[in-house]
Amino acid sequence: MARVTVAAAVSLIAVLAPLVLGTKPHAQSSTYYNPILPGFHPDPSCIFVPEWDDTFFCASSSFNAFPGIPLHASKDLQNWKLIGHVLNRPEQLPRLAETNRSTSGIWAPTLRFNEGNFWLVTTLVDDDRVDTDSSRWDNVIFKSEDPYDPYAWTEAIHFDFEGYDTSPVWDSDGKTYIVGGHAWKVSPGILLAEANLDTGEVGEWEVIWNGTGGTAPEGPHIFLKDGWYYLLAAEGGTGLEHMVTMARSKSIHGPYEVNPANPVLTNANTTNYFQTVGHADLFQDGAGNWWGVALSTRSGPEYLYYPMGRETIMVPVTWADNEFPIWSSLNGEMSGWAFPQENVELAGTGPLISEGDIINFEPGSTLPAHFTYWRYPIPESYIISPSDHTNTLRLNPSKLNLTALNGNYAGPSGQTFVGRRQQDTLFTYSVNLDFSPALLEEESGISVFLTQNHHLDLGVVMLPANSSTTTFPGTNLTTSTELIPQLRFRGISYVQVPDDIVVPIPESWSGKTLRLEVKAYNMTHYSMSAGPADALSQMKTILDVSNAPVSWGFSGVILGVYCTTNGYEGSTPAYISEWRYIPQGQFRN
Ligand SMILES: *[C@@H]1O[C@H](CO)[C@@H](O)[C@H](O)[C@H]1NC(C)=O
Ligand SMILES: *[C@@H]1O[C@H](CO)[C@@H](O)[C@H](O)[C@H]1NC(C)=O
Ligand SMILES: *[C@@H]1O[C@H](CO)[C@@H](O)[C@H](O)[C@H]1NC(C)=O
Ligand SMILES: *[C@@H]1O[C@H](CO)[C@@H](O)[C@H](O)[C@H]1NC(C)=O
Ligand SMILES: *[C@@H]1O[C@H](CO)[C@@H](O)[C@H](O)[C@H]1NC(C)=O
Ligand SMILES: *[C@@H]1O[C@H](CO)[C@@H](O)[C@H](O)[C@H]1NC(C)=O
Ligand SMILES: *[C@@H]1O[C@H](CO)[C@@H](O)[C@H](O)[C@H]1NC(C)=O
Repeated sequence: MARVTVAAAVSLIAVLAPLVLGTKPHAQSSTYYNPILPGFHPDPSCIFVPEWDDTFFCASSSFNAFPGIPLHASKDLQNWKLIGHVLNRPEQLPRLAETNRSTSGIWAPTLRFNEGNFWLVTTLVDDDRVDTDSSRWDNVIFKSEDPYDPYAWTEAIHFDFEGYDTSPVWDSDGKTYIVGGHAWKVSPGILLAEANLDTGEVGEWEVIWNGTGGTAPEGPHIFLKDGWYYLLAAEGGTGLEHMVTMARSKSIHGPYEVNPANPVLTNANTTNYFQTVGHADLFQDGAGNWWGVALSTRSGPEYLYYPMGRETIMVPVTWADNEFPIWSSLNGEMSGWAFPQENVELAGTGPLISEGDIINFEPGSTLPAHFTYWRYPIPESYIISPSDHTNTLRLNPSKLNLTALNGNYAGPSGQTFVGRRQQDTLFTYSVNLDFSPALLEEESGISVFLTQNHHLDLGVVMLPANSSTTTFPGTNLTTSTELIPQLRFRGISYVQVPDDIVVPIPESWSGKTLRLEVKAYNMTHYSMSAGPADALSQMKTILDVSNAPVSWGFSGVILGVYCTTNGYEGSTPAYISEWRYIPQGQFRN
């Protein structure tokens, strides 16, 4: 295969590069901006793979989103492209279909390359179960020979571990281990067991480190360097107290001596806009320089407005022989080691991370790689360019809406919703909606969706003509009541959301395709608007709404479209067209 030959030649250069450049590692420097992967990209795990044409690869957590475990690649550490997803077909891990709770799903993947194979070790969590129920933690391994080919990723190989944040490590004596965090059987700590990654067989788990005293020692990775085993972990929980700590030992089993300079990376107790820094990984580039990645929330210490959730950041790291590494502190603008030469030539189907969307659902097209569902979709509910409505996405309604059953798994009839991550502080997202509801509570619209318990929706919904601002489920309506399509805003969150707004669609717009829009116009607020698609000057702002209701938990906002009958009967489809997402600015301090 030609690719292997080229890769082999390139890797030889990569091996020589440190020798050539190693004498003057400080000679050049780069300026770059955090986050490197903005939006819902938590728990990053990144590697550099000379064998694959000197490419950097990063995986991140996806919780209940599907496709799951996005993979981004870069050749220059500046331009990151979505190249696919490790979890790309339901057969790989059927249980994601049924996870209850918004904090469930895929937690904390670790991506590694070893002897020609990519390995991805992670945990499928069902947070509906209590800690002591071993079925809460489904630890799994995926393997691939080609990160660009979705089908090359195996089905999940399951292994026994009552904890999460699992990470493989290959010892110099040929043994393979998995290290993981926070098992309930012993006090929270970092545990290790020998493992066969191909079969999922694991040995006895032993606690190798209890951390430095922060809550929830987790996110462990072990690195072999200069005859030491360096253990990297996160502590303090994934909120404002989050931090990265390290320890080391001459034996993989310990005892681990604590780094006197801990925490090596944190923004706790600072006023930095980047908070909750932790859950890190380390990799070395082709010039021999070290980099750290971690998650962080752009929230400031107030920690109220962070709709993009936990994002991927990168900092330069200095790692001298026989010493603990020194991590640069995290800011929005960074200077670091010289980057490899700019190169945006990457295989893979997804967009570059900074790109917006101009999507027209042309005949014969497929949904873009970065589009995301909540759990597994029912494929028939999403039809591109049906013959009677070309250049649209047809959505068939789900009986349950975006909240579904108290925010839990919606059952086999699913939830019709597809979106893309909010990746910019400021943006405008808009679509055309062609929808002629016939029955009570048939609804379609746009959503600022964080979880099933946190979303802000603006839709067209069939309601009695004389409804004011009250919602109708619960009311017993007579068949004689006249139903008309109305615009409705409805939000749900653990914090206060504005009351529902129901406004009749103006006479002059009736029967027309509408344009629905959500715009983040400052750091804390969205506006949600509607108007006739053929007369945008008539767009009306329905409301301004704070993003605090969608700033919560482990995930980040997904902007998308939905179609539902809100528990009633109905089958009227909606047709979505001219999908646009326009990035309009990042706040970094
Ligand atoms: C999810 O929650 C629902 C409602 O609480 C429950 O009926 C169902 O059994 C749960 N499903 C799983 C897979 O735990
Ligand atoms: C971790 O803490 C537990 C409980 O206090 C203790 O039994 C164990 O020895 C500790 N392990 C290590 C490796 O420090
Ligand atoms: C932040 O400050 C609190 C209170 O002084 C302290 O308990 C905590 O350890 C500090 N956290 C970090 C990561 O420095
Ligand atoms: C629809 O959404 C509302 C508000 O979020 C929620 O209370 C209700 O249970 C949902 N109904 C169905 C049938 O999905
Ligand atoms: C709507 O109108 C119907 C028929 O005129 C009436 O019976 C009903 O009470 C009205 N409902 C509300 C919410 O005003
Ligand atoms: C609503 O109407 C249905 C059928 O007309 C009836 O069976 C039901 O008891 C009514 N519910 C309430 C809450 O009045
Ligand atoms: C954003 O705009 C709203 C008014 O719509 C205002 O209340 C809020 O303070 C603004 N936020 C910032 C950070 O300026």
